[in-house]
Amino acid sequence: MSDVMQFEVENGVGIVTIDNPPVNALSQKVRQAILDGFEKAWARDDVKAIVVICDGRTFFAGADISEFGKPPLAPSLPDVLATIEDSPKPTVAALHGTALGGGFELALHCHYRIAVASAKVGLPEVNLGLLPGAGGTQRLPRVVGVETALDLMTGGRPVGARDAFDLGAIDALAEEGVLRQEAIAYAQKLIAENAPLRRLRDRDDKLAIHRGDPAVFEAFRKKNARRFRGFRAPEAIINAVEAAVALSYEDGVKRERELFMELLMSSESAAQRYVFFAERQTAKIPDISRDTPIRDIKKVGVIGAGTMGGGITMNFLNVGVPVTLVEQNEDALDRGLGVICKNYERSAKKGRMTVEDVERRMALIEPTTDLSDLADVDLVIEAVFESMPVKLEVFGKLDGIAKDGAILASNTSYLDLDQIAEATKRPQDVIGLHFFSPANVMALLEIVRGAKTGKDVIQTAMKLAKKIGKTPVLAGVCPGFIANRAMRPRGVEAERLMLQGVSPAEIDRVIYDYGFAMGPFQMRDLVGLDVIGRDSREKTVAGELVARGRLGQKQGGGFYDYDEHRNAALSPVALEVIREIAAEKGVAQAPADDDEILARLLYPVVNEGAKILDEGVALRASDIDIALIKGYGWPVYRGGPMFWAGTVGLDKIVARLKECEARFGEAFAPAPLLERLASEGKTFAEV
Ligand code: 3HC
Ligand code: NAI
Repeated sequence: MSDVMQFEVENGVGIVTIDNPPVNALSQKVRQAILDGFEKAWARDDVKAIVVICDGRTFFAGADISEFGKPPLAPSLPDVLATIEDSPKPTVAALHGTALGGGFELALHCHYRIAVASAKVGLPEVNLGLLPGAGGTQRLPRVVGVETALDLMTGGRPVGARDAFDLGAIDALAEEGVLRQEAIAYAQKLIAENAPLRRLRDRDDKLAIHRGDPAVFEAFRKKNARRFRGFRAPEAIINAVEAAVALSYEDGVKRERELFMELLMSSESAAQRYVFFAERQTAKIPDISRDTPIRDIKKVGVIGAGTMGGGITMNFLNVGVPVTLVEQNEDALDRGLGVICKNYERSAKKGRMTVEDVERRMALIEPTTDLSDLADVDLVIEAVFESMPVKLEVFGKLDGIAKDGAILASNTSYLDLDQIAEATKRPQDVIGLHFFSPANVMALLEIVRGAKTGKDVIQTAMKLAKKIGKTPVLAGVCPGFIANRAMRPRGVEAERLMLQGVSPAEIDRVIYDYGFAMGPFQMRDLVGLDVIGRDSREKTVAGELVARGRLGQKQGGGFYDYDEHRNAALSPVALEVIREIAAEKGVAQAPADDDEILARLLYPVVNEGAKILDEGVALRASDIDIALIKGYGWPVYRGGPMFWAGTVGLDKIVARLKECEARFGEAFAPAPLLERLASEGKTFAEV
């Protein structure tokens, strides 16, 4: 008996139970154990049908991702699954938890499937830059049809068992908690009925209707072109389904295998697999144990109902946590509440929530202009103006109001959290919770650890982030923390390139082509030039555009002019302002090609990342990558700046930075850590 597999027989049914915590990933040991279990079942005459089921929290959550990129270990998953399908005795997969990837593919190789209603099934390989490589691309379209299969596989989102049942991917639903008994009973029924060995590979009806007709694929490509931009896996998935339609099952599977191997070797998949594990690392803090007791957060206070305060509040309302929302006066309060309500109503109009959901959420807000109403909350998040005197005053007052043990958080972007903490007599309770705009949408939450922040406060914040659907990244105190600090040099360099005569449209295009949703100037126009230029003391192009009534997309256009459909064209006014300021500052005009633009914009981000890492502001390079992916939309298939730097070669980056240092000054000087790693031929993963 293997340590991950148990084989039992009950009333003519052989039961293969796998237990490989935490998620029953299909590692080599598990694959072998499944084969062993089936062989036992085949060998016994008294076994007439076989159930495969998992212990623990879930059915197989997929192939073991940590085995990818290493030499393959027999038996391979496709071989194991083919053997299961060829079973001479009927097989039933009994699903609970998340049957994903290779796990769902295994279920699709069984002759029948039963699941509890809370189970979810799906083929999320696309999120790892892969396609379902164990027959999924050939089987799912045979069951649910080509269009639905394309949607499910390129979307990568799992569906609930009930929906899967409606789609025909699950044959029976079981009561919660009694899956094993019901699966056995289901198998017995199959025996009694002499049910056929139903092999999905033999089905053809849903494929046949598309044979010789590429329209369905072309339409799908066109509809999703924007969503798929830059990713390699979605197109490979479409190719594999095209093969399912055009070829025999055997040839289709071969084509799927080829495409899978191509993806497995691709830089996109390497990056996306790295991101999968990196995302799961961020909550692990070396000096804080996982079982550190956390504080109970039942009620939250938010101070300031402006751009950030409103979005922050929504995060808590969405998970049913009441929020006391404090503003300076009734007008500001009404304005803030109005924006929150409008946001929810917009979601309701799009069908994402009901009118009752909107009402329920709004009813969770306790609006007030009196700070002392925060006496009963467990966590306060301050989101007032970015001004140290204002923050010090607020925290000083809070200290006298908040109950013992309440966590006092600031959403400051750049100010010194330790100074803010010293305005209270309880710096151990003070932490930074740095949300990104729009705070109800962006996935990143930087958790800023002050010199005296308590470990339980940090652990509580980490858990809370998960509860509100954010990815937490721990940051130390410094201006801009991780994401804003790392991205700042890109903004500075974009400005320099622009004054040097490179058109903002060219700069935006290079950044867009790299994979960002938009370039720095498009971004500035979207956020508002008045907001961007607010703190600048020197004369800037953005400031000058504001002076001419150009606030960005919201008013008068900005770097671009916009038509009524928001189509953008570079503004002649902006070009004139750029030329004027460049002349005033005596900037020498020098064109730059795409390669130079990209290097000058992004290598300094890598360089700043190296400083952030070396100073201990970030715990690990992968945390910086996650912060920029989740906070700034760094393309996930590049893996973030630090991973990407490894693919470019740190030595190449250092050489280029030195060239730029000679031309433009010490801002480009390579960070000592970057230089050291480059000289040792290492990457940031090896720090
Ligand atoms: N392989 C290896 N490790 C895995 C894994 C997998 N498929 N899935 C999860 N893990 C690990 C995680 O890294 C984590 O490890 P850690 O505790 O050391 O950090 C641990 O299992 C628990 O995972 P989560 O923290 O993510 O647990 P959750 O309960 O939040 O989520 C889950 C569970 C929904 C199963 C989620 O882990 C998940 O989405 N896993 C990946 C599923 C997936 O992508 N499957 C497809 C794999 S590719 C494939 O099957 C190819 C095939 O087509 C050939
Ligand atoms: P905002 O100007 O939109 O909102 C600030 C709100 O605070 C205003 O409504 C104001 O009336 C209110 N306020 C000021 N003093 C107050 C007091 N004493 N009591 C109660 N309310 C008070 O500013 P925004 O953009 O929301 O920024 C807030 C904080 O969030 C700042 O620290 C900022 O640096 C930070 N931040 C801002 C981001 C952004 O993109 N706007 C992103 C991340 C952080």
